[in-house]
Amino acid sequence: MTQELTSPSPAPQAAGTGRGPGWWRDAVIYQVYVRSFADSDGDGIGDLRGARERLPYLKDLGVDAVWLTPFYASPQADGGYDVADYRAVDPLFGTLQDADDLIRTAHDLGLRVIVDIVPNHTSDRHPWFQDPELARQRYLFRPGKGESGELPPNDWESVFGGPAWTRTDRGDWYLHLFAPEQPDLNWDNPEVHTEFEAIMRFWLDLGVDGFRVDVAHGMIKAPGLPDIGHGAQAQLIGAQVLPFFDQDGVHAIHRAWRRLLDGYGDAHGKHVIGVAEAWAPTSERLALYVRPDELHQAFNFQFLNAPWQADALRSVIDASLAATASVGAPTTWVLSNHDVVRHTTRLGGSLARARAATLLMLALPGSAYLYQGEELGLPEVTDLPDEVRQDPAFFRGGRATGAAGPGTDTEAAPDGVAAGGQDGFRDGCRVPLPWSGELPPYGFGPGGSWLPQPADWGGLTVAAQTGNPASTLELYRAALELRRRLPGLGDGTMSWAPAPDGVLAFTRPGLLCTVNTQGHDVGLPAPGTPLLSSAPVTVDGATAQLPGDSCTWWAI
Ligand code: GLC
Repeated sequence: MTQELTSPSPAPQAAGTGRGPGWWRDAVIYQVYVRSFADSDGDGIGDLRGARERLPYLKDLGVDAVWLTPFYASPQADGGYDVADYRAVDPLFGTLQDADDLIRTAHDLGLRVIVDIVPNHTSDRHPWFQDPELARQRYLFRPGKGESGELPPNDWESVFGGPAWTRTDRGDWYLHLFAPEQPDLNWDNPEVHTEFEAIMRFWLDLGVDGFRVDVAHGMIKAPGLPDIGHGAQAQLIGAQVLPFFDQDGVHAIHRAWRRLLDGYGDAHGKHVIGVAEAWAPTSERLALYVRPDELHQAFNFQFLNAPWQADALRSVIDASLAATASVGAPTTWVLSNHDVVRHTTRLGGSLARARAATLLMLALPGSAYLYQGEELGLPEVTDLPDEVRQDPAFFRGGRATGAAGPGTDTEAAPDGVAAGGQDGFRDGCRVPLPWSGELPPYGFGPGGSWLPQPADWGGLTVAAQTGNPASTLELYRAALELRRRLPGLGDGTMSWAPAPDGVLAFTRPGLLCTVNTQGHDVGLPAPGTPLLSSAPVTVDGATAQLPGDSCTWWAI
């Protein structure tokens, strides 16, 4: 299945993508969910050529890097997180040459490229799983319980619902923490380690600048695979250490990968990074993934899960900064991704709050992740008919993913919109992007779109928002431009300033940021001159009126 490149390329070394002093520490990284970003061939599914054509848009938006979700050969049982060949591009998304072209074009524009790596499980169509002998060594097979082995080996539940075990026609059972089409690998087998290191080198040789490590907390299971004895395990993910997640043994794998990434970077004069998608019960346990000899970043889902309340936000920010400072890593911030309800909807269906939350995030020290479409203020699509749904969790009656985590059922979620998406599932945040025009597919591509786009998205397209200073797109552009202009805003210091109830205020090098989480105006002594605000702020003499649900950056 592996494709040959017509012209193998050395790692691109364009201006702006060389080594630099720890570029990831304050980078703004834009998540491209390839299937829903831009379609070049009219099959209604986004692809690598489509993404490449739109890279100038991302450059103009002002991000530093893109993270591409899996585009590898896959039966697509879980949106490509079921990989059958880690070195091949799925024909749905293009060819290896398209991937090479995309990486080169990104580098020419000064954008770095991060790709997903999925080490906890493969597709059941992977050649290893297809070969019964290899499968027994490289996956987690166990005999069943009960008189004739008819019961699963333990009580673990799949994140997507139902038992985490499936019985083969040979009579034994294999573990799959996600869908049955995603068997878990046996990381006690050294060949698994060797293979993933080789896969990383393959993509590094193609020029990528790093990896987003899928389920980075999952590869190692507790010895003996003990029962949990609790009926609702998906609710516990991230709330406590479970025998299948956040086991201490995963850190040895991350240490080995850090050695590989550093070694590769040293040899090629660049920094290549690893980003953990890890669910840990506390900020302290999450920080273990970013110790100096482990991965460079970990997604901060505690921030994503925080309700829109000043006190709660402040404690999450303090806990995140303290935990990462304890290991010398930068903090990351994220509000939306392909597994959770878009933050416009999650924060009470309020675009005002979403815009304010984004300005807050971009004012905090560290690195920030944006999810495609949030710069347009897209809401979650909550009325998808059952027949178009593709999230495997929908068909298994489980929760969307471990990434939904505890705490996503925030008080802020509006009625009828569970925090995991429409009925708790993930298709509603994956609807293809609207680029232009008044009617679907809104310039997504020359054909249709794999999920239907709402009829009222004409005003939300990139074309409709471009040049309109009141638009969410221009707010993102302005914020990212200021972030670049103000030295130290990314990775510098931060101190809290006094503020009325329900308001946060903090200083950063060159600015003061206020966040009014109340739904009504709040007056306070004007802290300086407004630089950028998510809603019109008024300054009357020495007094400023902060609009309800707003964030303002002040020059001080
Ligand atoms: C991660 C991905 C999610 C996927 C799961 C299984 O949580 O973000 O989309 O379903 O891993 O690979």
